[in-house]
Amino acid sequence: MLEINSIKELRAVIRSERSKGKKIGFVPTMGYFHGGHLTLMREAKQHADIVVVSIFINPTQFGPGEDLDKYPRDLERDRRLAIGAGVDILFVPSEAEMYPGGYVTYVEVTGITDVLCGKSRPGHFRGVATVVAKLLNIVSPDVALFGKKDWQQLVVIKKMVSDLNMDVEIAGISTVREADGLAMSSRNKYLAPGEREAALVLSKSLRLAHDMVGYGETDPARLAASLEKIIGAEKLVKLEYLDVCDPDSLAPVDKIETDTLIAVAAWVGSTRLIDNTIVRPHLENSGGLV
Ligand code: PAF
Repeated sequence: MLEINSIKELRAVIRSERSKGKKIGFVPTMGYFHGGHLTLMREAKQHADIVVVSIFINPTQFGPGEDLDKYPRDLERDRRLAIGAGVDILFVPSEAEMYPGGYVTYVEVTGITDVLCGKSRPGHFRGVATVVAKLLNIVSPDVALFGKKDWQQLVVIKKMVSDLNMDVEIAGISTVREADGLAMSSRNKYLAPGEREAALVLSKSLRLAHDMVGYGETDPARLAASLEKIIGAEKLVKLEYLDVCDPDSLAPVDKIETDTLIAVAAWVGSTRLIDNTIVRPHLENSGGLV
């Protein structure tokens, strides 16, 4: 595996691979890899000849008072895991490389960034869209892969790529969960054992959503109320939002009659976690999370 810190060098290597007819797959990350990241990397191998993974903890997507300074880091471990997952190029730029002095350009996707996580994290998606646009310009991949756990991020990136006519395929990959249902996240590291147990209420509530829709529930308010009740019963968990909405526009739905996104964000102690699922009326029978 090649490790590269400079944009210029990365571009030269990618240009040379492309000239040999190689297809480039890209997985942008903020490091501290978990099973979800490794699945994206292995999946990228299925889509492309050369897999590029970036590690960059992007300061512009963290708001004041958020966890930028304590965001988990372990480059040595990430290197080993990336090699194991068959990554060809690990791109680890510095902040100065990505945002040199005098940097003033940002990408703003409007509307769909004002709801769900955008409500409590103003500026977050501006930072995400900006860094992803920069990384896509730097790597110029044929395909870039993102996890569906960050559903809103995936929707925002797809919209940006379409609106800006960027020549890249965006692939969304299913959330990877621990055996007990907890969605994998670098932030799970912050959870104390009791909090880790309490956090399971999020995936449990999403499973309940599948059951309710499977039994014919079509009323988003009634569904949300039932889910909020079981989350509310968990003392260590403070719900931030639970929204029942259209998976593409992220607008609230009046009735659950087609694929519908159930998205949740909650604080477990001082850790903010998100999770989501898509319920499919008429197709529900197993209660499985998708
Ligand atoms: O999902 C993430 O890890 C980040 O938001 C991303 C896409 C790497 C941009 O910094």
